[in-house]
Amino acid sequence: MPRSQPSTQTSTKNRTDASEPIRILHSENLSALRSLPDCSVELIYIDPPFNTGVTQKRTRIRTIRDADGDRTGFGGNRYRTEKLATTPIYADIFDDYLGFLRPRMMEAHRILTPTGSLFFHIDPREVHYCKVMLDEVFALNGGAGRACFQNEIIWAYDYGARSTKRWPAKHDNILWYTRHPTDYTFNLDATDRIPYMAPGLVGAEKAARGKTPTDVWWHTIVSPTGKEKTGYPTQKPLGVLERIVRVHSNPGDTVLDFFAGSGTTGVAALRNQRNCVLIDQSPEAIALMTQRLTHEAAQLQLPGHARIQTR
Ligand SMILES: C[S@@+](CC[C@H](N)C(=O)[O-])C[C@H]1O[C@@H](n2cnc3c(N)ncnc32)[C@H](O)[C@@H]1O
Repeated sequence: MPRSQPSTQTSTKNRTDASEPIRILHSENLSALRSLPDCSVELIYIDPPFNTGVTQKRTRIRTIRDADGDRTGFGGNRYRTEKLATTPIYADIFDDYLGFLRPRMMEAHRILTPTGSLFFHIDPREVHYCKVMLDEVFALNGGAGRACFQNEIIWAYDYGARSTKRWPAKHDNILWYTRHPTDYTFNLDATDRIPYMAPGLVGAEKAARGKTPTDVWWHTIVSPTGKEKTGYPTQKPLGVLERIVRVHSNPGDTVLDFFAGSGTTGVAALRNQRNCVLIDQSPEAIALMTQRLTHEAAQLQLPGHARIQTR
């Protein structure tokens, strides 16, 4: 049976484990994963490069007040956007994509606690191959293999250009595996709730409360002009990460992201009283996530700030 704990939201001010809430490791992730103990992490979320065949870049922009600008901002003022610089951040090109992922997934499986979960974020072009590979990995060392697969979550968004030659691809796939097929953390009560599609059919009380999500999650991408945007390529929305962290771990647990990028998983962990280990090989990612998490810890008034180990 899934394990469910009431979401005991401790006040961030009273947090006692703040000596090392966040560990940031600047490292190639396979060697870093090998240094982590067996059965030590309750939740792993990863968003690896998707093998798109392109180099992902970070573009810095600034907005300048301009009556002829293309955007309307605060107070109805018009602004134009100026591109400052485009920096290559990471190459997303693999000769043997599954050969790259497999040993890392084997380490992830070893590191998970007996009730732990893996969330693997991927796109529709690669998801089928990755699913078969993960079924195999979860069968290693006496694991139950395919029975450990719980859900394929479809993260649906609607942004950007729309193809007129085929249905526009507007979703990502998130595979959820558990170390044990039936004994795992699942705090459904801790999820955010979503509006009913036909609120008039369910009564005022239910409509006001909303309903729990299904395996299709409608959530906007990180807005290119919003406060959440860091400029890091392929940054994922905090709303998606917070839902995963709240439902699939408990306060005080450790969450691991070994393709951490801008540190979104770390922010979700920090906001929900979880500890976090973040790994990335890119110096730009490490600088950005350190700055982001230091700021977040200060906002939450946590005494412990990010501790950085560099190898
Ligand atoms: C898709 S991005 C992650 C974005 C992240 N989810 C966010 O919200 O910002 C993938 C990250 O994996 C990192 N990466 C790729 N291969 C790696 C490896 N072998 N070891 C460590 N980091 C790696 C890249 O530097 C990049 O930051």
